[in-house]
Amino acid sequence: MSSREQGAGSQGKIVVAKIGGSTLGSHDTALADVVELQRRELRPILVHGGGALVSEWLARHNLPTRFEQGLRVTDAESLKVVVAVLAGLVNKQIVAELSSLGARAIGLSGADGGVLRARTLDPKLGFVGDITGVNTAPLHSLLDQGIIPVIAPIALEWEGERLSAQLLNINADSAAGALAKALKARWLVFLTDVPGVRIGEGEIANSLSAQQAGAFIEAGVIEGGMIPKVRACLSAADAGSRCLIVDGREEHALLRSIEGQMTGTTIA
Ligand SMILES: Nc1ncnc2c1ncn2[C@@H]1O[C@H](COP(=O)(O)OP(=O)(O)OP(=O)(O)O)[C@@H](O)[C@H]1O
Ligand SMILES: [Mg+2]
Repeated sequence: MSSREQGAGSQGKIVVAKIGGSTLGSHDTALADVVELQRRELRPILVHGGGALVSEWLARHNLPTRFEQGLRVTDAESLKVVVAVLAGLVNKQIVAELSSLGARAIGLSGADGGVLRARTLDPKLGFVGDITGVNTAPLHSLLDQGIIPVIAPIALEWEGERLSAQLLNINADSAAGALAKALKARWLVFLTDVPGVRIGEGEIANSLSAQQAGAFIEAGVIEGGMIPKVRACLSAADAGSRCLIVDGREEHALLRSIEGQMTGTTIA
């Protein structure tokens, strides 16, 4: 069987998990869960953010942190820090921890192997990209070899008919959604720092339809960092993925999500 056929036949086993900066820490069980998923013959792919650490390193370089519409305004100087921190520090630390747990992991940014292609979203935001294409081939090759891909949310700009040399900063939730959709992943799980999508005072939605989600975004009930997660779920759910937003601070949240034992919000 060629690796392409293997990849296609194994799509039903792909789990795209996104871990937020806020849930990444030494007490976190997410990475152990990723290794356990692989042991159970699923095919995990990890996508990470790291917003807090980027802001910390921007401050060290006396660069301001500014968000517009939930997206980090990224000028040329900030982009250097974004790439260094996300594709460097954060990505390699995750690879190191997965390796120490006995897994084989390879860290990539979306620019490597042309995995993530994007266009500039809005000149006002600077070097922030909107994903326009995903090259899944390098990911299938890694998965076929039993390697866990760890993806930093950086893309290459696609200009007309060709890739330019411009790196773009991508929202990690959007990257996870685009990857899940392109890979026709079975699961897309967001591990974040809240118990799910809040839709009222102390009320977390069990599940949300596309229509409900749209209405809550419109009404400002879903805002900031939750918007790209919900949007990513809507687009991946459309391609057949089961999409969950759960509390990554809870022990074994990822494993329990796949086992159907985790409360949080399902987007259908
Ligand atoms: N309706 C909502 N329900 C739940 N959280 C919401 C809602 N609207 C906005 N939020 C905010 O979204 C945040 C989660 O997104 P955030 O971007 O901060 O974290 P993350 O994506 O997990 O981490 P990172 O951005 O570092 O990758 C919550 O902490 C909360 O403040
Ligand atoms: Mg976020």
